[in-house]
Amino acid sequence: MSDHARSDGETATAERRATDAATLNWTGGSVELPLVPGVEGDTGLDIGKLRSESGFITYDPGYGNTGACTSAITYLDGESGILRYRGYPIEQLAEHSSFLEVAYLLIWGDLPTRAQLDAFHNEVTHHTLIREEMRSFFDSFPTDAHPMAVLAAGTVGMSTFYPDSQNISDPAAVEVTINRLIAKLPTLAAWSFKKAIGQPYVYPRNDLGYAANLLHMMFAVPSEDYEVDRQVAEALDLLLILHADHEQNCSTSTVRMVGSAHTNLYASISAGISALWGPLHGGANEAVINTLERIVADGGDIQKWVDKAKDPNDAFRLAGFGHRVYKNFDPRATIIKGAAERVLAATGADDQLFEVAQRLEDVALNDEYFISRKLYPNVDFYSGLIYRAIGFPKTMFTNCFAIGRLPGWIAQWREMLGAEETKIGRPRQVYVGEPARDYVTIDQRADG
Ligand code: SDX
Repeated sequence: MSDHARSDGETATAERRATDAATLNWTGGSVELPLVPGVEGDTGLDIGKLRSESGFITYDPGYGNTGACTSAITYLDGESGILRYRGYPIEQLAEHSSFLEVAYLLIWGDLPTRAQLDAFHNEVTHHTLIREEMRSFFDSFPTDAHPMAVLAAGTVGMSTFYPDSQNISDPAAVEVTINRLIAKLPTLAAWSFKKAIGQPYVYPRNDLGYAANLLHMMFAVPSEDYEVDRQVAEALDLLLILHADHEQNCSTSTVRMVGSAHTNLYASISAGISALWGPLHGGANEAVINTLERIVADGGDIQKWVDKAKDPNDAFRLAGFGHRVYKNFDPRATIIKGAAERVLAATGADDQLFEVAQRLEDVALNDEYFISRKLYPNVDFYSGLIYRAIGFPKTMFTNCFAIGRLPGWIAQWREMLGAEETKIGRPRQVYVGEPARDYVTIDQRADG
């Protein structure tokens, strides 16, 4: 094909393919920035030599245009609404897999054989107890302590019982730490809830599956038998699958950052739990229910609240809508919406909030403000309705998100520590403060 016949795109591709680098030009110089192509999706510009060869640094608050690493764990395409764990589409894993199988896939890189899955399940089952001394840990918190505070504190606190977890270069020590975390987080979460409602702690049971065990520890009482509803357990297992990883989101980037200092896994995960707590991140599922309840209490005027969300002078934002990466439907939201209908039917829970959520979605998706900004329901928009129908209090929703996200955090921490490219995370800044100035003694300072 002659050159002039090439489209701009093809020319650019040809140049890139030919040089595998982009050139940054400025008055006074230029620098070659090697390309780091992905298997799919974004191509990175390697700016490793940018500052030394140009004197410039990049400026990208929120890292919306910055690749912090290469990763082989999760691929998502926000424009196309694609999400895959280790190459497997989320829709297929949601239909065919289980949370423990997905956890194994994310952490160890491939779907387990039957023997591997049985061994993993056996390990997790026999690590679900937390050290008995930790009972007093829960008693030290006020009854209205937010369960995310207790979960973050309990997670890093567990490291004090397992000093081997400091040996992050010992594969056996790391593996047992992984199994302990996957096994014990539900117990920590359930006991923080029992403490909050003043009920006796319920111990994990080895005859129950992962999600069923969490439900049992949350809702059983010693004075009577508690039968786990199979459909509810299946819905919870599905939610855990859908939350299991999401590439370099805020909390995962936090786990990587903390782990890059060679901090042990308990402490790195605890930092991730704290990041997830934020209402702009994992705390959004609790915020969605608060919003729906406010709309109902206010008389159900959907348009009024959509207009509030659009008002630049009003801090109110529609929790559960919008996403840094998904500029199309969040594939998890699609799956969760279907599961919400099934769980509401199975539990006979009040579906007034679900009806309001659907109306809110319809209005927003047809509103120019949301359309132009590509704001769609995200994973948090419907998940809270399922947790609520199951019987979780709002304050426990983000704990459930954390239990689901745990294998993803673990997988990313392991990948980061095993990668040759990894260095301790230490971004730079563009300084906009005071120029150098001399100290002023207090008697020389003007009173403000
Ligand atoms: C999760 O990263 C991940 O992968 C996260 C996650 C995961 O699995 O780990 O997917 C989980 O955190 C999902 C997101 C949960 N958070 C919420 O639902 C909170 C509500 N959403 C937003 O606050 C917001 O959409 C973010 C924080 C999610 C994304 O913010 P961005 O990418 O920084 O986008 P932005 O805030 O710059 O918004 C762009 C525009 C702005 O308007 P303009 O300045 O252009 O006029 O859209 C507006 C925003 O005001 N906007 C909203 C809105 N979200 C964005 N307006 C009303 N309601 C909203 N929900």
